[in-house]
Amino acid sequence: MELPAALRGIVGNVHVLTDPDLTAPYAQDWTRRWSGAPAAVVRPGTTDEVAAVVRWCAENGVPLVPQGGNTGLVGAGVPRDGEVVLSLRRLNDVGALDPLSRTIEAGAGAPLAAVQRVAREQGLDVGIDFAARDSATIGGIAATNAGGERVLRQGVTRTHIRGLEVVLPDGSVARRMAGLPKDNSGYDLVQLMIGSEGTLGVITRVLLRLVPVARAAATAIVAVNAVEEALGVLREVRVHCPDLDAAEYFHDDGLQLVVRHREVASPFGRPHPVYLLVELAGDTGTGAADRLAEVLAEAPGVRDAVLAASAADRRRLWELREAHTEAISAAGIPVKLDVALPLNRLPEFERRLPGVVREVAPQAVPVLFGHIAEGNVHVNLIGAAEADADGAVSDAVLRLVAGLGGSISAEHGIGLAKRRWLPLTRDAADLAAMRAIKHALDPAGVLSPGRLFD
Ligand code: MLT
Ligand code: ZN
Repeated sequence: MELPAALRGIVGNVHVLTDPDLTAPYAQDWTRRWSGAPAAVVRPGTTDEVAAVVRWCAENGVPLVPQGGNTGLVGAGVPRDGEVVLSLRRLNDVGALDPLSRTIEAGAGAPLAAVQRVAREQGLDVGIDFAARDSATIGGIAATNAGGERVLRQGVTRTHIRGLEVVLPDGSVARRMAGLPKDNSGYDLVQLMIGSEGTLGVITRVLLRLVPVARAAATAIVAVNAVEEALGVLREVRVHCPDLDAAEYFHDDGLQLVVRHREVASPFGRPHPVYLLVELAGDTGTGAADRLAEVLAEAPGVRDAVLAASAADRRRLWELREAHTEAISAAGIPVKLDVALPLNRLPEFERRLPGVVREVAPQAVPVLFGHIAEGNVHVNLIGAAEADADGAVSDAVLRLVAGLGGSISAEHGIGLAKRRWLPLTRDAADLAAMRAIKHALDPAGVLSPGRLFD
């Protein structure tokens, strides 16, 4: 049977898209860096339908790529020419919250914000959060082991997932949804799937562990001279404020882009080189803001600081950080490299990066921001796309990162974007084990081919 007809037989006519006008939103990422012409976009509504689609593709040797909210940044969920896009967005139910075990079940296509809403109504929360919360789906978040703004206190996504339902590349369905906090009964398929970027299975349901709601108690942006001082202030805040919940940083060039793009005001009367955003949260009582103000007044290297005086103020401060991605993309298609550095090498990385970039892309404007407590820098290079056509710019930056003992991907993953550089930080035996796992589960290579590995 022809491909569209076979898929229509499984999910119904209206859920198989082939018209380029209709497939367009699934065929390109929103930064416009990754795109392809899919053979079809298929939108199953149940796990059984997902399994049937995967089985048909496996039996007919048709490559397919699972896709959630299409907010990924490394091309892992965007089709290459001729691939079938398996959109999970219709699997968007948010199941019942179990207050005793503090877990909640959700379909892979449920947006993070929808799950957060249900949890918060009952005084609990998903310990994962980031700017794309309204579009990013729980399945995609699991498949990429998403990081975000709460990692400092809550850990990365894999620490929040208690169970998964996964359609394996042959169309069989593996369910590990008992949600037991202790379960040492063999290989941990759930953890293997988390962060596998759609190369080992299609995640259809997720069981999340919930955490108590930590209400924001004090939020501040601190102006400093350089990332070294930002780290010094962070150290002081950590010592004196055990309820520290988030620590982010950005530079003045990024702030100016946001100020212009969103037409908002800078909280400072004059520019400063680097800004650190810190937030305390939890049952910290009323003194949290005063305590933070005292710590910041004493901390060396603080040029200026603003503290949020209201919930609206707090949202304004966060917007200055969260709107970076959008403001940068509005300025042009950037080269985006999400990396992690050991904290004691972060200042050296920031010092050396401009020179390293200038050598291969003299016109490029670097804009750096990120999750400072994890040494997670989002390197955005505006005006570098042409110079990076053959990967020269990425190569220079990622070699610098690897040389300083960092990771070429902190939270966005490898996808299509970085597979060439994986050997920089993963040794031959490690890579061979990864390939062996891929081959064992997907011998025909139908699932997300070319992602992670060539
Ligand atoms: C962020 O931290 O804002 C996201 O990872 C998105 C990005 O890096 O652009
Ligand atoms: Zn990030």
